[in-house]
Amino acid sequence: MQLSTCDFVPATGTPADRACSPRSVNVDTVQGWAQLYEPDVNLVVYERDPGASLRQACEELANSDFSERRVLVELGKTGCALLTDLFLGQDAIALDLLQLCEAFGDLVGARALGLRIIRQLAPTCPAFHVDRILARAVTAYAGSGSQWLEERHVDRSALRRNQGESHRTPMHGGAPIQTIPSMHVALMKGEAWPGNSGRGLIHRSPPASDRPRVLVTIDPLD
Ligand SMILES: [Fe+2]
Repeated sequence: MQLSTCDFVPATGTPADRACSPRSVNVDTVQGWAQLYEPDVNLVVYERDPGASLRQACEELANSDFSERRVLVELGKTGCALLTDLFLGQDAIALDLLQLCEAFGDLVGARALGLRIIRQLAPTCPAFHVDRILARAVTAYAGSGSQWLEERHVDRSALRRNQGESHRTPMHGGAPIQTIPSMHVALMKGEAWPGNSGRGLIHRSPPASDRPRVLVTIDPLD
């Protein structure tokens, strides 16, 4: 599986395929992540209070000259010390990343994961799109999290026409754009999830801001 933040694929699917519309769920425990296995769920939002030490570490990372790190995390082999070295000696960040990787690896049955952290001002993927992946865990350590659309407001035919180049929103007029709050974890189901073709979560990066955004993505690699 590619370690890429934005693997665009035009959405497909007929109205019949969408008889049971994709939906999102909010959970407040890691056990709740298992709801991603519900056939009609394409987004699980893990609402969490990360605590003061992690918040402070993330703030320091956002204000540093950090740019990007990509790490192959092998569960059972990759330890906290390695991640601490990679992430500016920030123990709280290293511990959180390892816990997220372990939980997500357990969820999707992967022992190897691609971990990426990027600090940036410009959006990575400004256009709404779906990803040709199994699933991805995403969280913003600083700045806004990803934006997404509820299925009842989606016009997937517009997404197909856009071919990923247009910033026209593939939704019916006046519908709200949802934003994942900072530090919450979004488990996004992609087009390659069994039975999810044409039902991948439609999402994008939030608009540019004066404040650096620190984005974490975790992808299963095996
Ligand atoms: Fe994406």
